[in-house]
Amino acid sequence: MSESMTAARRPGAQDYPYDREALRTELRGLEQVPGVSKPDPILTVDRIERRFGGMTAVNVEHLEVQRGAITALIGPNGAGKTTFFNLITGFDQPSNAKKLIGGGDASWSFNGKRLTRTGASQAARAGMVRTFQLTKALGRMTVLENMLIGASDQPGENLFVAPFKPLWAKRERENIAKAEELLVRFKLDAKRDDMAGDLSGGQKKLLEMARALMSDPAMIMLDEPMAGVNPALTQSLLDHIQALRDEGTTVLFVEHDMHMVRHISDWVVVMAQGEIIAEGLPETVMTSEAVVDAYLGAHHDKDLGDDDALTTGVMRAIATGVAEEVEEENR
Ligand SMILES: Nc1ncnc2c1ncn2[C@@H]1O[C@H](COP(=O)(O)OP(=O)(O)O)[C@@H](O)[C@H]1O
Ligand SMILES: [Mg+2]
Repeated sequence: MSESMTAARRPGAQDYPYDREALRTELRGLEQVPGVSKPDPILTVDRIERRFGGMTAVNVEHLEVQRGAITALIGPNGAGKTTFFNLITGFDQPSNAKKLIGGGDASWSFNGKRLTRTGASQAARAGMVRTFQLTKALGRMTVLENMLIGASDQPGENLFVAPFKPLWAKRERENIAKAEELLVRFKLDAKRDDMAGDLSGGQKKLLEMARALMSDPAMIMLDEPMAGVNPALTQSLLDHIQALRDEGTTVLFVEHDMHMVRHISDWVVVMAQGEIIAEGLPETVMTSEAVVDAYLGAHHDKDLGDDDALTTGVMRAIATGVAEEVEEENR
């Protein structure tokens, strides 16, 4: 059995002793400037750039995300938030990416592990997982099948490499048990065998979150968790997010709903035109002049949302990454 299949090796969220008040007090003492050092960063990013043609979508000099905190990433549409998520989780590569020999100066590390030249499945193994929306293809799978896709340490269970399935029968049973436990927690257990596409908007968001938890991430990244959610379900989503933080999972989320941002985040990072333009406490940062200017000056065009960023190309990239890992482990 390869080392990577040992669950204990993964940085468990539960290892982190969480005291929200102590954390907030520490954060209150920080200077509220872009790139400010955190007491205990779980993610540190240096010089990440992403250009599309002549346009610079992301240009982040330095960012640290505090371990154990809920950090909100806000900014007007087109600011580069989703692209930034894709870059650090390995779904996209920086334009200034480091190469095997030479290349650019992009660099980031998570939980002490440099991720500068790794892909999405390695980022997930390091403990950093982003949710992605239910695409049409995923909607045609059952709720349980969707959960099993989230079990990142178990490539054989990944539906993209179904031919390898017999190799992983024992892990499959464990993954199913884990999936069922999470479905109960998210009140989706009655929907286990339903098509994911038939869930309500809010239930889809819960499933996206539950799926991400299959790999026991140290940090979960949520891109607009409240988008399209019926108000009756928003409180439940908020509770789930705060419960994750209280268990020691670091949360980084993008959200347009400023009420939610103020209500649950411990720290807020503001992006505009690809750059981090402000960082600070939720009580103060959103009213700062730089932030108000950024929103007023932004083009209010349609948000791309993650469906556009995470299309079949991305799914294919995951599949390729997983297939390569299976090959490696069978060697
Ligand atoms: N695949 C892509 N091809 C070309 N331009 C893109 C692509 N993805 C994002 N962009 C552009 O990059 C900018 C940042 O987009 P995005 O990261 O989706 O912003 P946000 O999530 O903050 O709304 C936007 O101008 C968007 O049009
Ligand atoms: Mg976006």
